[in-house]
Amino acid sequence: MSQLTDEIKRRRTFAIISHPDAGKTTLTEKLLLYGGAIHLAGSVKSRKTAHHAVSDWMEIEKQRGISVTSSVLQFNYGDYCINILDTPGHQDFSEDTYRTLMAVDSAVMIIDVAKGVEAQTKKLFKVCKQRGIPIFTFVNKLDRFGKAPIDLMDELENVLGIRSYPMNWPIGTDGKYFGVYDRQKKQIELFEDDTTHGQNTRASVTGSLDDPEFAKMLGAEAHQTLMDDIELLDMAGEDFDLEKVARGELTPMFFGSAMTNFGVQNFLEEYLKLAPEPQARQSSDGLISPEDDKFSAFVFKIQANMNPAHRDRLAFIRICSGKFERGMSVYHKRSGKAIKLAQPQQFMAQDRQIVEEAYPGDIVGLFDPGIFGIGDTLCDNSRKFEYEAFPVFPPEKFARVSAKDTMKRKQFVKGIEQLTQEGAIQLFRQAGAGMDSFIVGTVGTLQFEVLEYRLKNEYGVDIEMNMQPYEVARWMTYEDDREVTPASLRGADRGMFVYDRRENPVLLVSNEWALGWITDNNPDLELHTVPVDR
Ligand code: G4P
Repeated sequence: MSQLTDEIKRRRTFAIISHPDAGKTTLTEKLLLYGGAIHLAGSVKSRKTAHHAVSDWMEIEKQRGISVTSSVLQFNYGDYCINILDTPGHQDFSEDTYRTLMAVDSAVMIIDVAKGVEAQTKKLFKVCKQRGIPIFTFVNKLDRFGKAPIDLMDELENVLGIRSYPMNWPIGTDGKYFGVYDRQKKQIELFEDDTTHGQNTRASVTGSLDDPEFAKMLGAEAHQTLMDDIELLDMAGEDFDLEKVARGELTPMFFGSAMTNFGVQNFLEEYLKLAPEPQARQSSDGLISPEDDKFSAFVFKIQANMNPAHRDRLAFIRICSGKFERGMSVYHKRSGKAIKLAQPQQFMAQDRQIVEEAYPGDIVGLFDPGIFGIGDTLCDNSRKFEYEAFPVFPPEKFARVSAKDTMKRKQFVKGIEQLTQEGAIQLFRQAGAGMDSFIVGTVGTLQFEVLEYRLKNEYGVDIEMNMQPYEVARWMTYEDDREVTPASLRGADRGMFVYDRRENPVLLVSNEWALGWITDNNPDLELHTVPVDR
């Protein structure tokens, strides 16, 4: 096997998706702990208290105790090289979260055993489903009272529309669990009393289902329930089919408890075995295999000022094919120029460092002098293809933004344009309004805080911001290509008529109902959820 093939085969690049508080931080930390990347649990979590943060790049993150920006962690486990892309779990999340999911090969979905499928999980799941990537489910907090596993399986199917295959099964009755049954190994694994509060990795007690010792330990009732459940699952449940998993139609389901380390190592090992290595990607030249020895990558995220001392701006690339080497010269399709990748950075568990070489599946941060945009392709100088464009996520929150001090207008416009280029915000201009205020659209409200903070800290501009009562944006065209104008549109005053950066007409309204009215009263109007260039 060539070195490139070897490196690709051992890579697993994924994101953990969940609703806040389901245990993403805890699970990430435990995976790092098992990988030997950190030595005591608590190192990642402490970012919530602002010390030793893995990703305390922005002041806001520290103040709010949440991860605003997605960070990347790389570590080894056995022969595997793991890249975890962190996604902000906060409810005010942004497009960043969605874009991060464009750069992974699979996702781990955490579900709280007591709460089941929650709102944020649903949104993130939808994006993964659209991409058709495999999703692995970890049902967390099994050390606590929770829903019946069969009900959780139903919930996955009814709420998310995905069938599940339990890899293990909780042991216990009435929502009180004290162990799991591993369906592959046909073994029982019981919780040990945790005296270290999950700070260290830990072995567990295992044994076979028909071992009389275990039957005694479980008690007659729990033992019988388990036997019945397993029989039912084996007979009536879904068959395990890795191809269905690969297509995102079936999710392997694991039960465990991140906090007490229960089932974490098992999950990690099974996941690494079943999860896909870096996959081929669609481009303007057809599918590009990761084993293609010519380097290629795309930018999935741009982040400014991660280190306030340096005021730098990083473009994160996901390597798709070939080998990356520090100092290599690549072709940047959008600018049409060759670029030297001089100071690439990689993110290890606790800090970032200069990377000498990297392989498909890896994420590298490049210093960005302002040339990169989201979705840009970088490839070997002998090639000139482009990877598929990123989907645009329609904004759902809107605010009118202007500079408090009109003398600062120039810096204000510069800052706003910069953030638009990074993809942090979407910019609109109200029809008939002057150029001293903009309508800013985002996917989540947190982006407004980030906007305010960054304009002040990077451009020295205090802003005035007024939230607008709209939640839906629709790009508008007429069937016969006539221009849509505030005068031609019936009911334009039921929302706000704005133009996007390319002067395409867009209507902002408060809800779908208002949209219905517009559709009913403008028979030849066509509405689009994504930009349509005239
Ligand atoms: P998040 O990143 O998804 O938001 O969740 P996080 O890991 O921060 O976990 C949220 C809360 O759930 C934390 O409690 C965490 O300790 C707890 N938790 C995580 N995994 C388990 C588990 O397996 N069992 C139980 N019982 N609890 C779990 P907290 O009180 O908010 O924080 P802390 O005081 O523990 O730091």
